[in-house]
Amino acid sequence: MPTTELTSEGQIISRILNYLTVLIMMATAVLVVVKFTVSRHQEHSSPSTSVVIIPQITVALDGSGDFTSISDAVAAVPNFSEDYFGILIIAGFYREVVRVPKEKTRIVFIGEGPLRTIISSNRSEAEGWRKESTAAAWVSGEGFVAINITFENTADPGNGYAVSFFNEAKKSALYLCGFKSYENAIEASRNTQFYRECTIYGAVNVISGDAAAVFQTCTINMGKPARGDSVLTVQNRITLIYLTAFVFHNCTVDAAPRMPGDAVAYLGKPGGEYSTVVLLQSFLGGIVSPRGWIAAGANVSVLNTVYYGEYENRGPGAGTSERVSWAGFRVIRDASEANKFTLGSFIDGKQWLPKTSVKFVEGLI
Ligand SMILES: *[C@@H]1O[C@H](CO)[C@@H](O)[C@H](O)[C@H]1NC(C)=O
Ligand SMILES: *[C@@H]1O[C@H](CO)[C@@H](O)[C@H](O)[C@H]1NC(C)=O
Ligand SMILES: *[C@@H]1O[C@H](CO)[C@@H](O)[C@H](O)[C@H]1NC(C)=O
Ligand SMILES: *[C@@H]1O[C@H](CO)[C@@H](O)[C@H](O)[C@H]1NC(C)=O
Ligand SMILES: *[C@@H]1O[C@H](CO)[C@@H](O)[C@H](O)[C@H]1NC(C)=O
Repeated sequence: MPTTELTSEGQIISRILNYLTVLIMMATAVLVVVKFTVSRHQEHSSPSTSVVIIPQITVALDGSGDFTSISDAVAAVPNFSEDYFGILIIAGFYREVVRVPKEKTRIVFIGEGPLRTIISSNRSEAEGWRKESTAAAWVSGEGFVAINITFENTADPGNGYAVSFFNEAKKSALYLCGFKSYENAIEASRNTQFYRECTIYGAVNVISGDAAAVFQTCTINMGKPARGDSVLTVQNRITLIYLTAFVFHNCTVDAAPRMPGDAVAYLGKPGGEYSTVVLLQSFLGGIVSPRGWIAAGANVSVLNTVYYGEYENRGPGAGTSERVSWAGFRVIRDASEANKFTLGSFIDGKQWLPKTSVKFVEGLI
């Protein structure tokens, strides 16, 4: 007897189930097509914030998400992802030291606002931690993105290096984020990095490292150290071969709220023979010393080889008539010289940022 003739109750049920499965698969296919069409459509309507990354997993302290710790969520993400992978981090105070290792590529942390989603470390070098391990987040995976999150390190002044965010991730982007630490708020350690609409608070060596990093439309609030000088950058470039630099474009450098009137801040001190820092079209508040830059023990030959440039800045701290007279300091007057340091020409932002959902402008304003 041909088996198709067998029509027991079990077979009928199993056929119905098969039809249902096919129907569900077809419906899913339709949904996928619709979703794909919607995201393609968004890509065309707004070039600078082209995509919206939809989080695939959620972290919540109260157990209502997939994970209660950010580190556990990171561990669960596939290794070497080619696509951006969103992790929604629900508002909360995360006392964590988060590590995003090399194999966790293109992870996107999406918080609920810098005042609401906070990742906090209290470690410091003085307590015996390695520099990287003091950070609330130490990220190495290529394409790391964070949006709407504050990273902070609450170690007390006097505990030395205590960074909030240690970044060595190639093509990383930080958007609408906060960074807060008394000493070394951000270590922009190496590779290409972009910070947009971030608020950075620090008193000592606020941003250090040897990355090619562009800070665009960021606010830097300088505090007053208990001892010594407040310095915005310690850029560590040591060779002519790799063009690394810290670039501030359309930023605000000013005193943190409630700073005493006598607080003074410098824009940078040499962290390497070819230390390179450029401020373009930014607002420099009265806290910035008229001398602008500080040698901090560097010898004359270093002061000749650094490159500290200022272009079209404004505000009470932007005057250049009393700036240091080192050969390495320049008032940039030529737009084409300034343009070498814009996001578009310096780190080719247009090539890799459109997929991240982070806003940006490529050139001078
Ligand atoms: C991801 O890479 C790490 C480090 O090499 C490894 O320990 C882990 O097992 C990998 N996970 C998966 C799912 O392959
Ligand atoms: C950031 O968070 C705020 C709420 O604090 C929200 O209104 C805004 O849409 C978020 N932005 C992005 C890009 O996620
Ligand atoms: C640092 O934080 C840990 C918990 O994350 C806590 O146990 C410890 O007491 C804190 N140390 C200081 C000095 O605040
Ligand atoms: C420049 O910064 C201001 C805030 O200081 C902001 O309103 C403006 O949108 C920024 N311009 C660009 C082109 O990003
Ligand atoms: C100046 O300092 C640099 C870097 O610290 C060092 O390599 C160089 O030898 C010093 N030059 C002189 C003349 O002392």
